[in-house]
Amino acid sequence: MRNDLTFTIIKPSAFEKNLTGAILETITRNGFKIAAMKMVRMTPEKAGLFYEVHKERPFFNDLVEYMTSGPVIVAALQKENAVNDFRSLIGSTDPADAAYGTIRKMFAESKSANAVHGSDSDENAEREIGLFFSEEEIYLK
Ligand code: CMP
Repeated sequence: MRNDLTFTIIKPSAFEKNLTGAILETITRNGFKIAAMKMVRMTPEKAGLFYEVHKERPFFNDLVEYMTSGPVIVAALQKENAVNDFRSLIGSTDPADAAYGTIRKMFAESKSANAVHGSDSDENAEREIGLFFSEEEIYLK
């Protein structure tokens, strides 16, 4: 399995606050190439499918409601060791725990409105990219 791809979402609150440019600048400055990108308004069905692994969690309904509350930016990112390097760049789920200089420390509001999503494994990166992009929408170096 390839290890040079990850998937991100710039979440509704970050999009609404016009942080898209600043977040993308941080991502590309840290060596990630944009392999695919678009703005979407997720349906509840799509968000539910995307977060399927969390469907038994108490926060699932709130998570789906939040992720469908406005437009988001979805992107596939390419870099060696993409999943781990991107997780380091975004920081802990809860911005209160995130290290200084991380995207969530700089741009997130809370555990749910935490600015960005990042894939947690190469398998999930492939699955998540496939949920949003067709082969002809992806450009790989
Ligand atoms: P994300 O990386 O998008 O993956 C799952 C999301 O669930 C996570 O970011 C958080 O935004 C959200 N999440 C995780 N734990 C909680 C929680 N305890 N309360 C609310 N939202 C949560």
